[in-house]
Order: sequence, then C-alpha cells, then structure tokens
Amino acid sequence: MGFNNWARFMCNLNETLFTKTADAMLEKGLLAAGYDNINLDDCWSLKERNSKGELEWDPAIFPRGMPWLGEYLHTRGFKFGIYTNSGNMTCGWYPGSQDHEEIDAKTFERWGVDYLKVDGCHVELQNGRTNYEEFEYRYSLWHEILTTELKKPFIFSQSAPAYFSPNFHLDKNNTDWYRTMEYVRRNGELARHSDDIKVYGNNPENIFEPGGHWESMMNNYGMQVRLSRYQSCGFFNDPDFLIVDWPDLSLDEKKTHFALWSSFSAPLILSAWIPDLKDEDIAYLTNKDIIAVDQDALCEQATLVSQDGYIDVLTKNLANGDRLLTVLNRGDRRNTTRIPLERLGIDARAPYKAKDLWTGKTSSIHHSITASLRTRQTAIYRISSSSHAPKSLAPVPTGQIFN
Ligand code: GLA
Ligand code: GLA
Repeated sequence: MGFNNWARFMCNLNETLFTKTADAMLEKGLLAAGYDNINLDDCWSLKERNSKGELEWDPAIFPRGMPWLGEYLHTRGFKFGIYTNSGNMTCGWYPGSQDHEEIDAKTFERWGVDYLKVDGCHVELQNGRTNYEEFEYRYSLWHEILTTELKKPFIFSQSAPAYFSPNFHLDKNNTDWYRTMEYVRRNGELARHSDDIKVYGNNPENIFEPGGHWESMMNNYGMQVRLSRYQSCGFFNDPDFLIVDWPDLSLDEKKTHFALWSSFSAPLILSAWIPDLKDEDIAYLTNKDIIAVDQDALCEQATLVSQDGYIDVLTKNLANGDRLLTVLNRGDRRNTTRIPLERLGIDARAPYKAKDLWTGKTSSIHHSITASLRTRQTAIYRISSSSHAPKSLAPVPTGQIFN
C-alpha cells in the first residue's frame, strides 16, 4: 500500500511533490491506514550517468538529493521507493539499468531505498536471446542481486509480464504472458501484467480533458481475473494504480475500483494529488474492513465465479474461515440480483451472517443474498457462519472459470 506519482503527474515530479504528499498522507490518516510506501516513478535522474557509471538524481528537481528525501520519508514512518528499467533506457528516455544492475542496486541502497520498480522498455537483446529470454534473464539477475548483495532486499516490483500481455505483444505467441507470470512469481513481491491505468483522457485535442478512466480500470480488472492462480503469499498480481482524483470517475466508480482491487488482495498504490483529496475519498480509502480484506493473511485473489448480464460475482477465502462476496454491476442502469450461496460453493442450508463492508451492518442470510446496485456500483460482504453452524466455510473451489 502506498503512493506513486506516475498516473497523476508523470514526468512532472520534484522534491516538493513527495514531501507534500508524505505530509498529507500523515495528516489525512492514510499512513495510519497502511499506505506506507512512497514511490518515485520515471524521470527523476540526470540524462547521463556520472564518471563512475552511477545514476544521479536531477538536482534541479531534487535539490536536497535522494538520501535527504529518503530520510524525510523514513523519519515520518514511510518506506522509500524508486524506479528504474531493465532495458538500457527508461520508458521516458532516461538512462536504464541494463548491464548496470549491480551498481544501480548499490546506489539505491546507499540512498536508503526500500522498494524498487523495474520497468521493461527498450530492452536490448543480447547473446542471441529472444525477447522472452532476455526479460527472464534481466529480472532474474535483479532478483539475484537484490537478495544476495544487499543488507536487506528491496521490495521488488516487476513490469515484465505487461510487455507480453495480449495487448502489448512483445512476442506473437500469447502464451508468453503466462510464462512470464511464472518467473516473476519466483523473483519478486509484485508484478504488473496489464496496460497502464489511463493517465490522459480520450480527447487527442486536449489530453487533459477527463475521459476513459472507467474503461481503463475495467480493462485491467478483466486481465487480472485471468491470473488468480499465480498469486499466493509473497507474490501479488499488480493491476496498476488506484486513480482517485479524476473527475470523470463517479464516487461509485472509485469505490468499485477500491473494492475490486481489495478483493484481489492487490497492491493499493494511490496515484493522485493527495493534499486535495476529498473527505469522501479518504473515507472509503481508509475503510478498515475492506483494507483487512486486501491485506488478508491468505493473500488470495478473488475468483470470478459468475458473469451474467452485467453482474460479476467474485469470492475468496479469508484467513479466519470467513468468505468474501463481491458483486459488481458493470451495467449502465440499476440492477438487482439474487446470488444463491451454492454459487460460492458453500452449504446453502446452513445459516450465515453477512457484513456489508460499506455500511458495517450485519444481517442473517438464508440460501441467497440479494444486492440492488446502482450503475457501476460494487457490493462487498464478509460472510461468516452463524454460531450453530460449523466454524469454517468450505474453501473456494479451485477450478476457476478464467485461468
Ligand atoms: C511504463 C510503466 C508506467 C510508468 C511509465 C514511466 O509505461 O508501465 O507505470 O512507469 O513507464 O515512463
Ligand atoms: C504503454 C504500455 C506500458 C509501457 C509504455 C511504454 O503505456 O502499456 O506498459 O510499455 O507503453 O511507453
């Protein structure tokens, strides 16, 4: 959980952006709710390495330097994240880390970094390797360096699978997307597998005109549901940032974004101008019951168990034996739906309680649960056995419909 500047500010980053973000996250209770990583993305460095071959921060935008910024974040209780690239240039055309992995890891360690995102633009193929092989080689090399040459390994965020996704197509053979998921699981704590959550609007005449963010979020959701079998504690599928201050997203849409990402136990990385977030946004982003679902000790990614009409139903096991039920209305009008408990693979004859995690209200349920949802609204419930029923619910069936 934390913050990254990219989807909101892209290359317009500087020291003040991060100090003000940290101050606001403290003041608004986001740090206390668990958002404790503050991550810089692309474009923080000089365009050339120094005479020792090291990366240097751009002093025009980071006048007091990275060690100072790291210290500023650490003393307030945050971890410090930075960005580099497995290719020889970053996506924004700054120096990348290809063939400089070791020196860059040591530099970041000296600066006090705790978290590293390694992106996948401009990867040069070497020694006859294919795209797939070069990516596997680079990300595994990073893993090796981070785990053997540092006092404490960084949290390692990998972008590799996104470059092999059905939309991106680095290789014609689509199975490489899934193959990439296999090695990133071994190498680091999280990996991007889908497109960038939309940074600009749709209007080419004015890219800052809001638009298209709901579709972008649904696209990443739709790709994430295919990958639940790759997630287990220690490795998380990353459907990209939570965008919480685009005016083309309604409050229901933003709450859906948060509820779905939490149902997935996905990284919750905010990309927004935090000092100006509204109270209504802070309220749902700090919902303790939903954050507990996101951070649940089983680390499961909710499985899509049905998709009829515009209603998606997802479920996952929770560590205390409860079951999550998430119901999304993707449609453009209100929809009322009845979900039989059988569909979740639990004994429909037993009595259950359902806690609505938006309202905190608990009610008894028998056989089925009925949700009436506004357009693009999501209901999220924690289902538990009533006192006279067996303590633990049956596990989610392992055969998922999208894998
Ligand atoms: C890629 C990544 C983004 C961001 C940019 C930076 O597009 O997927 O998340 O890091 O590069 O240039
Ligand atoms: C798109 C892709 C990203 C990244 C950038 C590079 O945005 O979705 O993953 O490759 O292009 O510019």
